Amino acid sequence: VPDEKEQLQRSWIANAPAWRDAVRERKIDSRRVATDAAIIDAVMSLGPESVLDLGCGEGWLARELSSRDVRVVGVDASRPLIDAAEELGGGSFYAISYEELIAAHAKVGAPFDVVVANFSILEEDIRPIFTAAAGMLKDDGAFVIQTVHPAFAVGEAPYVSGWRTETFAAIDGEWPEPMPWYFRTLGEWVHALSENGFVIGEVREPLDARQYRPLSMIFVCRRALAHSE
Ligand SMILES: C[S@@+](CC[C@H](N)C(=O)[O-])C[C@H]1O[C@@H](n2cnc3c(N)ncnc32)[C@H](O)[C@@H]1O
Repeated sequence: VPDEKEQLQRSWIANAPAWRDAVRERKIDSRRVATDAAIIDAVMSLGPESVLDLGCGEGWLARELSSRDVRVVGVDASRPLIDAAEELGGGSFYAISYEELIAAHAKVGAPFDVVVANFSILEEDIRPIFTAAAGMLKDDGAFVIQTVHPAFAVGEAPYVSGWRTETFAAIDGEWPEPMPWYFRTLGEWVHALSENGFVIGEVREPLDARQYRPLSMIFVCRRALAHSE
């Protein structure tokens, strides 16, 4: 049995050129239709001066936010995607995993007003990303997560948390490695957030206006300081 976590990281290295082109050439329908604007709006509605983009990929969100006068730091485990981000600028970028970031927060300019994870929580064990987010936020900062909509993105698959495989077949390009990713039900998302010391303040469901179906889900969370300290 291949190790999903290892294959997940490998896929973001092998698929980096195809992913970069897909994002930059706006080949992904749901992003064009709603989810890009929705995450920009969710973050900007908080009025941040500084944002940490966890799993920033090729850096499109960092560029969008920095063009709105936000100081942005992006981290991602995929070196080729970080190289692509650095080419276009818009922030300071670091090729490190969430696990490595936990040990390095002084270096990347914490604390931040907002930590954002745009479709970048893909592992079964989400404690590292939550620990990293909590450690990088100001006390009153917000953690903003955009993810597949648990109830509408499942297609024919059963509504059960577990590993799935994305082949990217629907997106034009050369995708050498499939990507394992961990699907979680809405109940498991809420449980994981509260177990890791976050309180959900708002849930947004960006809509595909052509079908009146949500294309994603955005959680705007705060740290539950009263409980954790
Ligand atoms: C679907 S892409 C999203 C990229 C970017 N946020 C965007 O909106 O285009 C997921 C990203 O998460 C990163 N990622 C996943 N797990 C990670 C981990 N444990 N540490 C660092 N980066 C990770 C991948 O390398 C990949 O770039």
